[in-house]
Amino acid sequence: MQILSVASECAPLVKTGGLADVAGALPAALTPHGATTRTILPGYPAVKSALNAPETVMEWPDLFGGTARLLAGDAAGLDLLVIDAPHLYDRGAGIYLAEDGKDWPDNPERFAALSRAACDIANGCVSGYQPDIVHCHDWQAGLAPYYIARSSAAGRVKTVLTIHNIAFQGLTGAERLGSLGIDLQDFTADGVEYYGRVSALKAGLQFADKLTTVSPTYAEELMTPDFGMGLDGLLRARRADLVGILNGIDETAWNPETDQLIHTYKAPRGKSANKRALQEEFGLSEADGPLCVVISRLTDQKGLDLLLEALPTLLERGGQLALLGSGEPGLEEAFKRAAHDPNVGVRIGYDEALSHRLIAGGDAILVPSRFEPCGLTQLYGLKYGALPVVALTGGLADTVIPATPATMARTLATGLQFFPVSAGALSNALDKLCDLFSQPKRWSKMQRNAMAHPVGWDVSAAAYATLYKGLSKEAS
Ligand code: ADP
Ligand code: GLC
Repeated sequence: MQILSVASECAPLVKTGGLADVAGALPAALTPHGATTRTILPGYPAVKSALNAPETVMEWPDLFGGTARLLAGDAAGLDLLVIDAPHLYDRGAGIYLAEDGKDWPDNPERFAALSRAACDIANGCVSGYQPDIVHCHDWQAGLAPYYIARSSAAGRVKTVLTIHNIAFQGLTGAERLGSLGIDLQDFTADGVEYYGRVSALKAGLQFADKLTTVSPTYAEELMTPDFGMGLDGLLRARRADLVGILNGIDETAWNPETDQLIHTYKAPRGKSANKRALQEEFGLSEADGPLCVVISRLTDQKGLDLLLEALPTLLERGGQLALLGSGEPGLEEAFKRAAHDPNVGVRIGYDEALSHRLIAGGDAILVPSRFEPCGLTQLYGLKYGALPVVALTGGLADTVIPATPATMARTLATGLQFFPVSAGALSNALDKLCDLFSQPKRWSKMQRNAMAHPVGWDVSAAAYATLYKGLSKEAS
């Protein structure tokens, strides 16, 4: 089975969040299940320069305003197709945001080009290559199922759309319908129209053969008005085609026994050495309470304003916080102010190696998200014995077994969950965390449970392969 994966980011080449991790790790995880993946990516400078032995396999005289070519090659163990379109992707700053922190104004066209290229490939434009399934990720690839459904490959090549985060819908004004190649007749409520605008995500949700999201609980949540962000009705209507498949983590990159980015490890014994090193790095002294860590985008989704409110509870109990993140300026400033406390350390920025040291040295990882489709950092925490303290939502609910008298008695508990998602409930959870931390036997039992919890891709890759197989049977 040949799978074309369509993504706007892919680790380790280009990453702003968990989508890149998934796009980067899933291809190798699928191989043992009989699925061969090629990944199509925009030709950002970092992607083009990483590409080994690039070969031109297709050319466009005009791809959304300029000439472009498709390069085939490999990088970081991935089989890649890269769209070399300098007018769309040869830019500094971010892959989505310009220097001023705002979206590039032509983002709708930049990612429509990704979708159009995927459609052309589905239609057999690359000699010697015919995908059976086009697997699209998030709104940036949302128009691909639409273009394919309206083209000659319709029915022959099946499409899957994975929702990593419904908060990003790829909205643009109706005046761009023509430039995006969308028929006016599809600009309807049961087409691509979303409250008077065009939504690339909605196009994918309407036209893909199957829909997935990244945890079973988020799949259920998406069908409710509180989480569906206006698309819950559509998702309820497509319930039979929607499945939640949990993300895994790349266990070659995230493995405490072999991790080259951390000081030392032989978990859980190595934890204290890593913790001491982390405290020194963040200018924190030794303390009696747990060292809690956070690695996150600083946005409303992640609920870190709740952590700012609940922080006094942790500090009063002798706990500490070390945070790495970047995002909304207001949150960045608030955490910098919080770092005036000697038991709080904050690094604003993006730093892959530091994220490993935080997980390796932290006693607990905090993820107080208001919604979380899957979440990856709590999975890293499990693997490295940094117990997750998470909000009861989405993938956080599906991956952490909360400490209760029953789960503790049966040696199952791997962390703490709190609900409602409020500062008060988080505060209580931090209090409970400190209680557990002061009972070394119970604590190390939970650490062992956490580290034994499966967080790899095996089961989920098999679930994707089953989904693909079902679809390719329909096509034949
Ligand atoms: P999301 O995709 O919503 O941001 P996830 O938890 O799924 O959330 O994935 C976030 C990924 O990005 C994880 O791999 C995490 O370690 C990484 N990450 C987030 N912020 C930073 C940062 N400031 N520095 C390094 N890695 C980060
Ligand atoms: C999104 C979600 C996150 C998920 C990631 C990868 O960015 O916010 O919860 O883990 O995608 O699927």
